[in-house]
Amino acid sequence: MPYFVARRNDSGPGAGRRSDMTGMVGARGYDTLEEAERELRAARARQPEADYQVIEADSPAEALMRAMTPGGALRVVVGTIDSRQEMDYALSVRRRVFVEEQGVSEDEEIDEHDGDPAAVTTAVHVLGRLESTQMPVATARLLLDHPPGEYPHIGRVAVLREFRGLGYGRAVMEALHEEARRRGIEGITLAAQLHALPFYEHLGYVAHGDAFLDARIEHRRMDLRL
Ligand SMILES: CC(C)(COP(=O)(O)OP(=O)(O)OC[C@H]1O[C@@H](n2cnc3c(N)ncnc32)[C@H](O)[C@@H]1OP(=O)(O)O)[C@@H](O)C(=O)NCCC(=O)NCCS
Repeated sequence: MPYFVARRNDSGPGAGRRSDMTGMVGARGYDTLEEAERELRAARARQPEADYQVIEADSPAEALMRAMTPGGALRVVVGTIDSRQEMDYALSVRRRVFVEEQGVSEDEEIDEHDGDPAAVTTAVHVLGRLESTQMPVATARLLLDHPPGEYPHIGRVAVLREFRGLGYGRAVMEALHEEARRRGIEGITLAAQLHALPFYEHLGYVAHGDAFLDARIEHRRMDLRL
């Protein structure tokens, strides 16, 4: 739905002032684009120096987040993890998603592949952070210690709930695919939670075999040839 968004303008002539929308920064949803744009014109006429936008989003939070970065985009930057601190950020995303949201126990969730990247040689982890604020929002890992004849395994793919549907899951997966290609790896295998099957299919993965339980959650095996 279209949102009329007003936010604090800290650099322009209105620096330090707040919008007049409700006396504070915020986003208000409208049934139609015309109504939102009417509000935008009226607000600009009242206070021309303030920062107002109309943004298409699914929630007020998403509208505000989109407004935070220039051009309205919520860009994410993905990199491989090479410090203990980045690893801790990745684990905090995974705790929120798998432990708090999905009820997986901490013992099942975190294992020997999740230690200090300076010491762990069996996995490559990636972290996605918002370009605007550096907030960690997405992660995934590629395991390198696969049995001979099997493709390496990608797992622990997680995007914070409030940041889903914005392409961040695809971004961390593509970063790991790129890393795998760089290492001469020819394919990837993974165990997909059933609800995430379409997500992996969009990335080219093909499901095979029956569903099975892991951490009491139903999964299916999926493969991708790189
Ligand atoms: C699965 C998960 C990682 C997807 O991340 P996301 O950031 O929401 O996904 P994206 O926005 O990058 O979506 C990428 C593509 O998959 C599609 N997609 C994502 N989830 C989908 C779903 N449930 N059904 C259909 N399509 C879906 C998107 O439409 C998009 O398609 P496009 O690029 O062709 O437009 C995220 O939902 C998540 O963290 N879930 C909880 C943890 C979890 O279950 N992880 C997987 C364990 S196997």
